[in-house]
Amino acid sequence: MVMTAPLIAIYGATGHTGRLVAAELLSRGQDIVLAGRNDAALRAMADELGSRAFLAPLDDPASLRELAESAAVLIHCAGPFSITGAPVASAAAEAGCHYIDHAVEPHHVKHVFETFQAPAQRTGAIMIPALSFYGGLGDLLTAAVTEGMTGIDRVTIAYAVTGWRLTTGALNTARQLFAETERITFAGGALHVGYVEPRNTVFPFPPPLGPRTMITPIPFPESVTVPRHVPTRQVETMLTARTFEEERVFDSEDADAEARAQTDFTIAVQAIAGHGGRAGQLIGHDLWRAGALASVEAAVRLIGGAAPAKSGVLSPGEAFPAEPFLRALERLGAFTITL
Ligand SMILES: NC(=O)c1ccc[n+]([C@@H]2O[C@H](COP(=O)([O-])OP(=O)(O)OC[C@H]3O[C@@H](n4cnc5c(N)ncnc54)[C@H](OP(=O)(O)O)[C@@H]3O)[C@@H](O)[C@H]2O)c1
Repeated sequence: MVMTAPLIAIYGATGHTGRLVAAELLSRGQDIVLAGRNDAALRAMADELGSRAFLAPLDDPASLRELAESAAVLIHCAGPFSITGAPVASAAAEAGCHYIDHAVEPHHVKHVFETFQAPAQRTGAIMIPALSFYGGLGDLLTAAVTEGMTGIDRVTIAYAVTGWRLTTGALNTARQLFAETERITFAGGALHVGYVEPRNTVFPFPPPLGPRTMITPIPFPESVTVPRHVPTRQVETMLTARTFEEERVFDSEDADAEARAQTDFTIAVQAIAGHGGRAGQLIGHDLWRAGALASVEAAVRLIGGAAPAKSGVLSPGEAFPAEPFLRALERLGAFTITL
């Protein structure tokens, strides 16, 4: 009998994130199929990598379903997810195909939890939205920092990023998020949807960064994902104000992969309970690679005997033991961890 390796589908494979995901999966010896809407670009990439291409535009549910039925896991890398998210997630849920995505949009993540929980549980699919740099790493670091804590008053997840050069997908996503008035926040033990005025605050990163001016709340998915597995009454997400003030951040759609890799980041989590608290941080270079590695590590675990025991939609820190997962990424050079 010929054994075939489980197939991993990459949707939006021709984008910057999709390419990083494809390269990492191939370096781990995985069998991949490159999917998306642009046949010529998919074929050219498949020829370059010696892999397969599969055309599945968003308005062709039969093709999306065929793709999901052929794969064991689908990593969704095409955005903005407010547009691309639901059709692909729906095909995966209905086909019983495990699903991971790179969404930063909180509304999409909330929609996945609310809409696909029942079908995924019925078909046995494990769906983990927001398993990327913004969102996924914050969620996992929060789980690692708060392990065993109870009665947490507040979790703050603070991102310090320099050298970020937005891709077309990220730029289109940022435009939508900046304009959004219905923000999702988690305070007083409940999820709120409504207008929240962005403000500046100061977050005390440990040296060498030190205290930095931040924008908060920033619409990242941890408000949705963290309360599912961390007993906190409040989740705050913030990003260094300087990140969007840098010269090249919004005019880098044509930057090459090497230029894009020149980002530095710190993700810090502070959990406060009563008069005490705990903190932890990830410090690294190349946020795009860190996000791609996180999604690949999850996909490989889902098909390699380290999957969560239950199916359905899960937060990253609900799906995997957080510290071992982060340590695996640390060994791959994604960042260094301080806990
Ligand atoms: N949470 C995080 O930290 C994180 C990290 C990385 C990326 N992301 C998100 O991931 C998404 C992709 O980012 P990227 O940097 O890879 O962007 P990118 O380089 O611009 O690539 C975008 C990809 O999505 C595809 N795509 C866009 N709209 C599509 C549609 N309507 N139907 C099918 N395919 C479509 C593009 O295909 P075409 O070539 O045909 O246009 C391309 O393959 C963005 O939404 C970004 O915000 C999030």
